[in-house]
Amino acid sequence: MDWIFGYGSLIWRPDFPFVDRRVGWIEGWRRVFYQGSTDHRGVPGAPGRVVTLLPEPDARVFGVSYKIDPQVRSEVLGALDYREKGGYARYTERFFQKEISSPLDVLVYIATTENENYLGHAPANEIAAQIHASRGPSGDNDEYLLELAEALRAMGANPEDHVFEVERALLELRARSLR
Ligand code: SIN
Repeated sequence: MDWIFGYGSLIWRPDFPFVDRRVGWIEGWRRVFYQGSTDHRGVPGAPGRVVTLLPEPDARVFGVSYKIDPQVRSEVLGALDYREKGGYARYTERFFQKEISSPLDVLVYIATTENENYLGHAPANEIAAQIHASRGPSGDNDEYLLELAEALRAMGANPEDHVFEVERALLELRARSLR
């Protein structure tokens, strides 16, 4: 039975059928708004920013794992490969849950630094400004950030998560533009 781990839009908009859902984490990675999006939250020439994972020893990434019915496995993975085609590839990681000692193997989509849409590090206020200016076929980039931050808060993710830093920068920028 396949499990799929989501740490970005797959947390708050999975958009595929699943038979179980668990909150937990994978280890050795950190979540960053370093991936450019030209097919969902931006367009070619004006990319938005979405999350990917960078290796980091001792770090954890909180997210959600979904159990997929084997009967729909190939449709679900085909649709996800298409949805994540802007630079992400499938990896297998171990997924841990609070108070459950045996980890699960999960599939996870990660956009590595080698893909052509990778943007890399920028200060949080610059990332927030780029997000605020971007929209694409899936909607405003602001929505992606705010929905993700809300979902992470609801699952009790680490308050130090980079997503919250970028969210604070976005909310300050929005408040300033109202003044
Ligand atoms: C994920 O959510 O796991 C991958 C990144 C994204 O689609 O936002």
